[in-house]
Amino acid sequence: MTHNNKVVIFLGPPGAGKGTQAARLAQEQSLVQLSTGDILRDHVARGTELGLKAGPLMEAGQLVPDDLLIALIRDRLADMEPVRVIFDGFPRTQAQAEALDLLLEELGAPVSAVPLLEVPDQVLIDRIVERGRQAVAEGRAPRADDNEETARKRQLVYREQTQPLIDHYARRGHLYTVDGLGTPDEVYERILSGVH
Ligand code: AP5
Repeated sequence: MTHNNKVVIFLGPPGAGKGTQAARLAQEQSLVQLSTGDILRDHVARGTELGLKAGPLMEAGQLVPDDLLIALIRDRLADMEPVRVIFDGFPRTQAQAEALDLLLEELGAPVSAVPLLEVPDQVLIDRIVERGRQAVAEGRAPRADDNEETARKRQLVYREQTQPLIDHYARRGHLYTVDGLGTPDEVYERILSGVH
C-alpha cells in the first residue's frame, strides 16, 4: 500500500460541472480522471461491442448496465500504482458503489473526498441545452443526450438511482456539499477546501 494514493469521487446531477471541475483537479493534482461518460462516448464513436450496447441507452438518458461499468472500472484500476484517481460519473448506482468499495479495499486505496455539486434543476437543464446549441453553432455534432427532453429524463434517473449514494458516502464521512453556481473558478476554490 502506498501513502501517495488519492481517490476523489465527484457526485452531482447531470450538468452540475463534474467533468469541468474534475478535469482541472486532475491536471493540478496529477490525478487520472475517469469519466465514464467520456469513456462510453468513445466506445460509441468507435462502434465497439460496449459502444453498441451503450449508445441507445445513453441516447435515451438511461443508465448502462452495472456489470459493464464495473468491469470497465476494474480494468482501468488494474495495475494503477499509486492509485491517484478522480471518478466523474461513477458510481451511479448502489451496486456500482458497493463494487467500487470492494475494488478500492483490494487496492488499499481508501476514498479521500466526495464533493457533491449542487445546482438548481432548471440551471442544469439550461446548461445542457446550451452545450448542445453551442456545438451546433460551432459545426460540431452535439451529444445525443444534450436536449431538453433527454436532460429531464437524466435528472429523473439521477434522482432515482444516484441520489441515494449521497447517504452511502455521507455515512462514511467523505461527503461535502459544494455550491455549483458561480464561475468555474469560484466553484473550483470551494472544491479545494475539501480535497487534502
Ligand atoms: P455523463 O457523461 O457522465 O453525463 P452527466 O453526468 O449527465 O454529466 P454531464 O457531462 O452532462 O455534466 P457534468 O456534471 O459533467 O457537467 P459538465 O462539466 O459537463 O453520462 C452520460 C451517459 O452515460 C449517462 O446518461 C449514462 O447513459 C451513461 N453512463 C455514464 N456513466 C455511467 C455509469 N456509471 N453507469 C451507467 N451509465 C453511465 O458541465 C455541463 C455544462 O455546463 C458544460 O457545457 C459546461 O461548460 C457548463 N458549466 C460547467 N460549470 C459551469 C459553471 N460554473 N457555470 C456555467 N456553466 C458551467
